[in-house]
Amino acid sequence: MRTSLVIANWKLNGDLALVKEMATHFAGLLKDTTTTVVVCPPAVYLKAAEIALAPVNIKVGAQNCAAHTDGAFTGEISAQMMRECGASYVLVGHSERRAIFGESDDVLAEKIARVQESELTPVFCVGETLEEREADAVESVIEAQLNAGLAQADFSNLVIAYEPVWAIGTGKTASPEQAQEVHAMIRRWLRDKAPEQADTLQILYGGSVKADNADTLFNQPDIDGGLVGGASLSPEQFDAICKAA
Ligand code: 13P
Repeated sequence: MRTSLVIANWKLNGDLALVKEMATHFAGLLKDTTTTVVVCPPAVYLKAAEIALAPVNIKVGAQNCAAHTDGAFTGEISAQMMRECGASYVLVGHSERRAIFGESDDVLAEKIARVQESELTPVFCVGETLEEREADAVESVIEAQLNAGLAQADFSNLVIAYEPVWAIGTGKTASPEQAQEVHAMIRRWLRDKAPEQADTLQILYGGSVKADNADTLFNQPDIDGGLVGGASLSPEQFDAICKAA
């Protein structure tokens, strides 16, 4: 009932050459799959990525957007501008945005609204730190993030990504059981808040997803695909991850 979705988050990496490499590598590979594949390059490469990747059935997305639509916000890019440059998805609330750039729950809720107003799909990221996991606070932390970020959200156009902070870029993946437990908890939360979308909304796992662990993670009943950082910079690895979905 849910199709798979795999999203590459290049973060502050990649260049036009990598866009080309991806296009060449994926030529013909995604013809007969129901899996949706998305690449989120740095925003300046969005248009070039859309032009190169649309013919090989890869969509593009933005890693972030402004909480405002327009105005005196030097350096910001609006959701509508991302859309004009070819984006179909926008990541919102990645733990790096929360921790390094201090994005609060209120700002993230605003960003979700801007993305949905622009008819793009937000990929709302949640996840606990190691301290929070060790303090047995996983459920309360994730619930608080969901309640705050999605207070006004339209659940019919939304993806949720669970990315435990301790698993991002560390090589420490959540075990399939650990990940499934949180995904099931998110699904229960959805049943309460948005019963009509609870069974169709895609929930992705992110955090050190690699070619050799993607299969067991994606086989869990409530894991509908992945949000991939480091491994998405290698067309071969990313391709293997997409095949596992
Ligand atoms: P890694 O796959 O490099 O751990 O990054 C995960 C991530 O943050 C994707 O958004």
